[in-house]
Amino acid sequence: MPQAKTIPFTRHPFADGSFKKMLIDGQWVAAASGKTFESRNPATGELLATVAEGDAEDINRAVAAARKAFESGWGRSKPYERQVLLLKYADLVEKNYDELSSLDTLDMGAPLARTRGNRQRVVGMLRYYAGQATALHGETIDNSLPGEIFSYTLKEPIGVVGAIIPWNSPLTSTMWKIGPALATGCTVVLKPAEEAPLSALRLAELALEAGVPPGVINVVPGYGETAGAALAAHPDVDKVAFTGSHVTGQAIVKASAGNLKRLSLELGGKSPDIVFADADLDAAVPGAAMAVFSNSGQICSAGTRLFVEQRVYDEFVGKVADFGKKLRVGNGLDPETQIGPLVSEQQLERVTGYLAVGQKEGAKALAGGARLTEGPLAKGYFVPPTVFANVNDDMRIAKEEIFGPVISAIPFKNTDDLVKRANATMFGLGSGVWTRDVSKAHQFARAIRAGSVWINCYQAMDPAVPFGGYKMSGYGREGGKQHLEEYLNVKAVWIKTS
Ligand code: NAI
Ligand code: MG
Repeated sequence: MPQAKTIPFTRHPFADGSFKKMLIDGQWVAAASGKTFESRNPATGELLATVAEGDAEDINRAVAAARKAFESGWGRSKPYERQVLLLKYADLVEKNYDELSSLDTLDMGAPLARTRGNRQRVVGMLRYYAGQATALHGETIDNSLPGEIFSYTLKEPIGVVGAIIPWNSPLTSTMWKIGPALATGCTVVLKPAEEAPLSALRLAELALEAGVPPGVINVVPGYGETAGAALAAHPDVDKVAFTGSHVTGQAIVKASAGNLKRLSLELGGKSPDIVFADADLDAAVPGAAMAVFSNSGQICSAGTRLFVEQRVYDEFVGKVADFGKKLRVGNGLDPETQIGPLVSEQQLERVTGYLAVGQKEGAKALAGGARLTEGPLAKGYFVPPTVFANVNDDMRIAKEEIFGPVISAIPFKNTDDLVKRANATMFGLGSGVWTRDVSKAHQFARAIRAGSVWINCYQAMDPAVPFGGYKMSGYGREGGKQHLEEYLNVKAVWIKTS
């Protein structure tokens, strides 16, 4: 696999090694404890910033600021006012997008090609929510009570939202929490992931610049067990919007019980991607490969269980392996890089652990299979695209979320029990079907228990289309109108008119 050339550490205006404070009530402040943590580039190990490490006390301050901002006007702001603000914010994010995307590349490793490529998802999302801000409405509903009594509903912002996000797509995740809050009139305390907190801070700075009132968006970086747990348990937080692992999702459900917060959970997956022999295989090879290798496999909906029809299995899986071998692995700042490093040493250990498990279970690595340590790659957490063949449904690599660039290719002969096998997972986030047979495509689209089904494509996303999970991939939807409902309360009003 050809390596992209490594390029020297580029100074970034927001990742120049300096101290980054947290944002509470429109002010940049240090942690109450004075503690900090480091944010490093996973491709090189270089220090990007020391960051204020928030804990329960900072969360208390931020929640109080968010409550004050909600009560003192933002919660009753006019839809048009929020729309104008969102559009202005979108313009500013767009203007600064190259800087923001390279910040994510430095902080969590994804290649520029990817972070830049998400422009429409990040900026377009804000413009979509801007449009939705003036489209929110309740209903008048006929009732059947005797006499004259009129009933209608009001949609009201839910209040203070605690947003807890992971590191795998920080810009997108941040926007998917801030955007609907701004559209509906909620206020936010956002806790970014400890692995990649920088772009959330920069996005919050841009929100202030756009004119978002102080206290509407607060950002408290810190660790999950401290800052995150305090936010999930806080009695004055009305809702938690979480993206991350199902294990943490479960902890958040428990922590939220104290005041019965509303929750939306976007969790992990082990998504099936099914290739029939009748598919356009030339399109399915790169499609199935990038359904997993994008972002080094660090995508919740990655199509990691690759079911391939027996009679094309060897040829198809061989081609996917060849495709993987040709991808350029290296520093994400190099525009030619296609596969960046994993985000952290912890993630490297997890993924290489699964590589060993796969080999032990008797799977055969047709591509990749071990960490890369040649030359400059030794300084980062690089794992090449890996394709395991000879996988069966019962192997751990076919069941557990690896969150790395690892495909488990499983053959199938007949389609009778294929749906059952595809659905035999505790998750239900993404899924793919490659076929030229229209009825088969529709049958599978209905039968698969997952929040998204991609037919002859994978990972297509748009701000207007809902995304989310079945089963242990969580509940609630991001994107689309339903996303905004997650940030709204419905109030029924009754007026006796006779
Ligand atoms: P994680 O779920 O622990 O972390 C995600 C966010 O939750 C971070 O901001 C973290 O600080 C916070 N958090 C952690 N523990 C918390 C707690 N007790 N209360 C409140 N917040 C808490 O995920 P992590 O540790 O980064 O990765 C572990 C595995 O999780 C990955 O290997 C992958 O399998 C999965 N994962 C799935 C993601 C997805 O998009 N579905 C994203 C990130 C990880
Ligand atoms: Mg964790």
